Amino acid sequence: MTSERVSKLLQEMTTEEKIGQLLQLSADFFEGSQAVITGPMREHDLTLATVYTAGSVLGISGAERVHQIQADYLAKSRLKIPLLFMADIVHGFQTIFPIPLGMAASFDPEAVKLASEVAARESAVSGLHVTFAPMVDLVRDPRWGRVMESTGEDPYLNSVLAKASVDGFQGDLDVEHIAACVKHFAAYGAPEAGREYNTVDLSEWRFREQYLPAYSAAIAAQAKLVMTSFNTLFGVPATANQHLFRDILRDELAFKGVVISDWDAIGELINHGVAGNLQAAADQALAAGVDIDMMSFAYAKYLQKAANLDESTRQLIDESTARILELKESLGLFTDPYRQVTPEREQAELKSVQNLNAAQQVAEESIVLLKNERAILPLARDQKLALIGPVANTGDLLGSWSWQGDQHQTPSIYTAMAEKFPQVSYASGCAYHQLNHREFDQALSTARQADKIIAVLGLPSSESGEATSMTDIRLPQEQLTLLQALAKLGKPIISVVVTGRPLDLTLVDDLSAAVVLAWFPGSRGAAALTNILSGAVNPSGKLPMTFPRSVGQVPIYYNQFNTGRPLSHTENDRENKYLSKYIDEANSPLYPFGFGLSYAEIKAQPISATQQGRSIQLKVELENTAALAGKTVVQCYLHQPVATTVQPVQRLVAFSKVLVPSKQKVELTLTVAPEELTYLDAALKRQTFTGELKFLIGLDSQHTKAISVAYQND
Ligand code: IFM
Repeated sequence: MTSERVSKLLQEMTTEEKIGQLLQLSADFFEGSQAVITGPMREHDLTLATVYTAGSVLGISGAERVHQIQADYLAKSRLKIPLLFMADIVHGFQTIFPIPLGMAASFDPEAVKLASEVAARESAVSGLHVTFAPMVDLVRDPRWGRVMESTGEDPYLNSVLAKASVDGFQGDLDVEHIAACVKHFAAYGAPEAGREYNTVDLSEWRFREQYLPAYSAAIAAQAKLVMTSFNTLFGVPATANQHLFRDILRDELAFKGVVISDWDAIGELINHGVAGNLQAAADQALAAGVDIDMMSFAYAKYLQKAANLDESTRQLIDESTARILELKESLGLFTDPYRQVTPEREQAELKSVQNLNAAQQVAEESIVLLKNERAILPLARDQKLALIGPVANTGDLLGSWSWQGDQHQTPSIYTAMAEKFPQVSYASGCAYHQLNHREFDQALSTARQADKIIAVLGLPSSESGEATSMTDIRLPQEQLTLLQALAKLGKPIISVVVTGRPLDLTLVDDLSAAVVLAWFPGSRGAAALTNILSGAVNPSGKLPMTFPRSVGQVPIYYNQFNTGRPLSHTENDRENKYLSKYIDEANSPLYPFGFGLSYAEIKAQPISATQQGRSIQLKVELENTAALAGKTVVQCYLHQPVATTVQPVQRLVAFSKVLVPSKQKVELTLTVAPEELTYLDAALKRQTFTGELKFLIGLDSQHTKAISVAYQND
């Protein structure tokens, strides 16, 4: 429903002013506090008048600058419609949290919500109104660089975390919150061969079963915007895809908010070959329901002509303008176009102790212990430790999409370790991709003096994120050579891996007594990791993606479908050739989905499963036999072997992160919601399972215990 203010404005606006609202410009159109005739304006053939009607800008922040630009803009705006400020605030503004894939490993929606709340507060006081987050694209291919920005391979986990993130960013949309833009609609995370911007081709059945739920959860959580994706889906680029945006997003999901194109995605319709020129691209995007054109200028250049010709274009422009004005209204911009931003509020909020502590807490929840032979971890304080590797003494721990984060002010792992361990020494051994003899030899001699070696390995942040697809997902050869040389010293090795994507860690696992996955852990990641290594914090992270044994297994994911020729057990059957398997590699992954160790000894035992209304309640007993408390994630998978369409061999339907005190038993109840007990048939109709349902309960996806219940769906 259009508000009175918006209806009135619509009546007063000229078509040109309405089209202006549909235009989003980048920061370089504004120099200092004003729009000026600069390179971009000339390059794109735009006038100053067009810039002063643009509805939104991306990539500008800072209380003072935003205030000045808004004041300058409003002074020139006939109807005093405020400018919207947007940016990619993905895992923190100045206080950087772990990358989203790392946060997903927390399996803790409260942690994800907290990270989004802090990011929202910091960006709101710096003048931002909208974040291009969360990215909820389901990803099963670690070759794709943007996997770091996702929450992994599972539709249910993605959906729970999508809601948490939207709730955290938006709250009640007061001046401490910002609007969330869910992206990228749709299925951007499934490019063929993991190659960035490549074709996506999914059946609609699979899209709806596995990819759509997370977008749907974010929209149900009232996300204000949706961004189009660069890829094609069902044969049509998303940005011109009426079925996707009109039938599915607007009609089925009842999305009432603003749709924004990705950067120049309207222009790219020409490269995709579905539009012959920019005018046709503009027409197609508008017809699909794309409200804001980010940086293709197609709307600014061509919509006026089309609007002069026909009523239906005018109608579409009105609808889009109304949605953008409603967004401005919901952010309170007509009442206070500055949303109370002041340099004082900004200074008090940015990187406050409270925010940095929150970032550390979330990092501690995100780190995953993958191997711990003979309980080599945690480390005692009085040992001689050699910290070796190219990631040991760098601030490059923030990860991609941390625009306002500052690597140079980010403590390194060595700095944090030296505060806790008096006898830690450091040598780089090699650079990320380079090895020289002097550094290498020095590292070996440092390691020789130590009781234990901590190899800190990984990739730089520039090698994950947008446009960083890779075909080889092992650590760089230089680092593996270093690790092999360290292993020959015969001392125990603890490998710490800093990465934005699942890697093939087969050799690292072979050579190490312990393996710790740090992801890109953020502003306080080094302190979080030190707490994990010292045992001050007991690790509780679990993998949100399967880690393969080699790139040849990709895409590998736990919730695969049944085949007609399955293996009867996880190890490959050498006797039977004609089974669904490889002849040179196991089917099973190196580390399965949901996996992560603890220093505690916790076991899960299902006790009962009962139907309550249309939900299922499962009682589970957890027992910790260790002398220290630990958190773990209890996971419940549905295993439903018979339906009219093939089903995943198991799929996550509930989980809960729980603290189990030392030497104690804890009982908890997991609730499986009715919608998790359904599936899509071949006609894309939702059906409910009935009869016996089998649930698998465990602390990872591979080691589970079954419990069944008879289910009636009346
Ligand atoms: O939000 C991003 C998007 O994810 C990728 N292209 C650019 C946009 C704006 O920065």
